[in-house]
Amino acid sequence: MPANKSLLVLPGDGIGPEVMREAKRVIDWMGKKRAVRFELEEDLCGGCAIDAHGMPITDDTVKKAQQVDAVLLGAVGGPKWDNLPFDQKPERGLLRLRKEMDLFANLRPAVCFPALADASSLKRELVEGLDIMIVRELTGGVYFGTPRGIETLPDGQRRGINTQVYTTNEIRRVASVAFELARKRRNKVTSCEKANVMESGVLWREEVQKLHDEQYKDVELQHMYADNAAMQLVRNPKQFDVIVTDNLFGDILSDEAAMLTGSLGMLPSASLGAPDATGKRKALYEPVHGSAPDIAGQNAANPIATILSFAMALRYTFDMPDEADLVEKAAKEVLDKGLRTGDIMQKGAAKVSTTVMGDSLLMALSKLAG
Ligand code: IPM
Ligand code: MG
Repeated sequence: MPANKSLLVLPGDGIGPEVMREAKRVIDWMGKKRAVRFELEEDLCGGCAIDAHGMPITDDTVKKAQQVDAVLLGAVGGPKWDNLPFDQKPERGLLRLRKEMDLFANLRPAVCFPALADASSLKRELVEGLDIMIVRELTGGVYFGTPRGIETLPDGQRRGINTQVYTTNEIRRVASVAFELARKRRNKVTSCEKANVMESGVLWREEVQKLHDEQYKDVELQHMYADNAAMQLVRNPKQFDVIVTDNLFGDILSDEAAMLTGSLGMLPSASLGAPDATGKRKALYEPVHGSAPDIAGQNAANPIATILSFAMALRYTFDMPDEADLVEKAAKEVLDKGLRTGDIMQKGAAKVSTTVMGDSLLMALSKLAG
């Protein structure tokens, strides 16, 4: 059996370890039932790393993350670490990983499971069958631009500064990920910025258009101001296929799209770097939800987003699309059966724990695999 598939598992804080425990059972299952072996290593990131090492991620962990095929992360942060200085917070661990692994393309699918359509805050007919892919630029823009900081002015006022900045290459590489994805989907890309007020937005629009005209003429391209996109997402979300946008707009639009689907607890994400000479990309997979400190340690969290994040790893890192389909089908099956964790609870459904959700998903997997 080839033992060449390596994963670094970073469960993190809050519900992170609980949801990761269930994902690890799925990874084990895959290893046993399919002719693959996943080599798992586990480490700390976030508040747990602050407690153990005094920093949200160590150099050693970052190095490991660079060497494995993929990183699978649970969630980071919690009230215990809320009052730390900005640059020592748990979130910095995650931001450092994104930046140092150069994971510039963040894929956030917003898919509405039919069984959950009524849990959406929009009407069923608007969201049933929804399948959007948001591609968010993840290592540039106002999150990392300089100058940044808070300074005191001569008159005693303070001034906070962040810089929105993008280069041609940063725009082109993320846009090309969006075009490639669209070709495998419904062949449409909507690019969002604020070219009406921001120069970086003008550049974004021009570069995306140029790349399209040079290499992706077969894909339908639409430009949309980000505020209009926010509005269109709640007006008629099914008009979108792939949305590509910058770091900050992507942060916001992806949360909005996530909520359309009925639950944040269901949504995975992938963060990818540039392909190397062999076509392999550095990658980090994580659920879109946070560490949910209010329900941590209660065996109540929904493990599906983390399990679906592993499914994305199967698809985008390990080139195992059939196995990815299998995991996604198993998730759909447990929902169709009426099993619900608290976050997606509906009238008439059966409320189950994190562990029981995991058990049921494994059972569905075994049944589907025959
Ligand atoms: C996300 C989160 C992060 C972000 C935080 C935790 C730094 O909101 O992944 O969307 O803003 O990128
Ligand atoms: Mg966010």
